[in-house]
Amino acid sequence: MNLTVDRITKQYKNKLAVDRISFRLSEGVTGLLGANGAGKTTLMRMMSGILEPTSGEIAVDGIPVQSEEYRALLGYLPQDFGYYPEFSAREFVLYIAALKGIEKKKARKKTEELLEVVGLSEVAGKKIRTFSGGMKQRVGIAQALVNDPKILILDEPTAGLDPKERVRFRNLIAEIGKDTIVLFSTHIVSDIEHIANNVLMMKEGQLIHEGAWSEDKGDLEKFYMEEFE
Ligand SMILES: Nc1ncnc2c1ncn2[C@@H]1O[C@H](COP(=O)(O)OP(=O)(O)O)[C@@H](O)[C@H]1O
Ligand SMILES: [Mg+2]
Repeated sequence: MNLTVDRITKQYKNKLAVDRISFRLSEGVTGLLGANGAGKTTLMRMMSGILEPTSGEIAVDGIPVQSEEYRALLGYLPQDFGYYPEFSAREFVLYIAALKGIEKKKARKKTEELLEVVGLSEVAGKKIRTFSGGMKQRVGIAQALVNDPKILILDEPTAGLDPKERVRFRNLIAEIGKDTIVLFSTHIVSDIEHIANNVLMMKEGQLIHEGAWSEDKGDLEKFYMEEFE
């Protein structure tokens, strides 16, 4: 599949948050790097169909972002993920599955599978409010995967994960990326170097770099250090 972002722009009241960005993604893992305020979340919200662009177009194989069909293909982990503290991990993932219109029996099977994958099987019946930040984030990753998305958008998914969880997450994403379009934003350059095939870099609403990570690794690392650290 080809996900095309074509001259996408978001003008908030008095802030140009995303400035005519174009790129194309296919299956594989793409990292989105950029300092705080660069426009990563705004871009991802438009790519998830929850924020309307000021101008520009987003489509996957010609299917526009504002369609049922696109939504059925999408998994999204928002940066400010709203948890339902009184839900158990299992209840929450089942709830999202229901919202996405997944048939009950299938949803139950998938939920158990995913809770296993993110390492929450043992605590699946416990309330989310008792979870650590990393555990909550893993619930977020599980809910994003419940419809077997072909496009997976993860906004700072490694935030709050400890080093062990981070490695586990990387392995999971690398596996999913084999047949899924994965875009994830991060501040942590080692997330990108371990799992991303491609990298996009944003600065002040603009796309300042696009390419394969391996090819430009030396330059990119230097650039990133100068830019963000
Ligand atoms: N709803 C909003 N209204 C006005 N400005 C916003 C809004 N959301 C984000 N911004 C601004 O847009 C810019 C990009 O923000 P954001 O997309 O959250 O960047 P990032 O995710 O890279 O930190 C920032 O300057 C931010 O303050
Ligand atoms: Mg953000």
